Amino acid sequence: MKHLITTSDFSIEEIEALYEDTRMFNDLQSNSYLSGKVVVTLFFENSTRTRSSFEIAAKRLGAQVVSLDVGTSSRSKGETIFDTVANLNAMKPDAIIIRHSECGLPGSLIDKVDCPILNAGDGMNAHPTQALLDLFTIIEHFDGKTQGKKIAIVGDVKTSRVAASNVKLLPRFGIEPIIVAPEHFQFENSDLRQVNSLSEVIDEVDVVMSLRTQLERHSQVYYNSLQEYAKDYCITSESFGDRDILLLHPGPVNRNVDISDEMLEDKRNKILEQVSNGVAVRMAILKKLIN
Ligand code: NCD
Repeated sequence: MKHLITTSDFSIEEIEALYEDTRMFNDLQSNSYLSGKVVVTLFFENSTRTRSSFEIAAKRLGAQVVSLDVGTSSRSKGETIFDTVANLNAMKPDAIIIRHSECGLPGSLIDKVDCPILNAGDGMNAHPTQALLDLFTIIEHFDGKTQGKKIAIVGDVKTSRVAASNVKLLPRFGIEPIIVAPEHFQFENSDLRQVNSLSEVIDEVDVVMSLRTQLERHSQVYYNSLQEYAKDYCITSESFGDRDILLLHPGPVNRNVDISDEMLEDKRNKILEQVSNGVAVRMAILKKLIN
């Protein structure tokens, strides 16, 4: 039984094969690869994109989706998450997709179930499907030629599971991540190049990935207002100039904090392309793990 807990669960060859299927699913049309299958989504943290993307992906493949409303489930009656999952597992679903604030929780469930577990984000630890869709977007943009490319990952890197997954996945495809952040948002122990300002690296990078400042994960107040942070880290047309750089963001975007209104209209911004690719990548992942 194969699960997706971190991107290292898939070999390079498996990812390449996954992207062949992703291209086949790129028009996001319905098919019957998973007809008769049942997929459960279990989101203990807020989500707009990831949950709807997984649910649309499963439905486009012909699967039925059961979304547990964790607010009204027995969790609120004191049941442990392990018991909740064991009970769901006893109903024989074909996959369980889970998001939880606790690092490592999805991985700790795999020996308690008889179906694939898909990690839709665990705390600050990992967000494998986001990194896989980010990589796919980069590969398609550069026609598969990713060797030697550099990506600036800008912002609250330290608490970002998106960054955590990308800095592991992208180097496997020859892409060097450079962290652009104030010291308190940088990784503590890392071999990666880390700088304070985008202007230091803007002339050498091919891709910029902006991240949201994850106030809900901070144990202390770093800025009196997000505008103060934005002065240095908001991606603007001045910071990009006329350079041929791809702009990515996993969402949700804080307008004029992460990225300016103007850059959100710019042709170099591929955020909605990431969202569409996300459905196709998740279709390919569900097909791989369930079939
Ligand atoms: C992110 C997440 O929840 O990890 N968004 C996403 O899933 N696309 C990032 C965030 O919350 O800022």
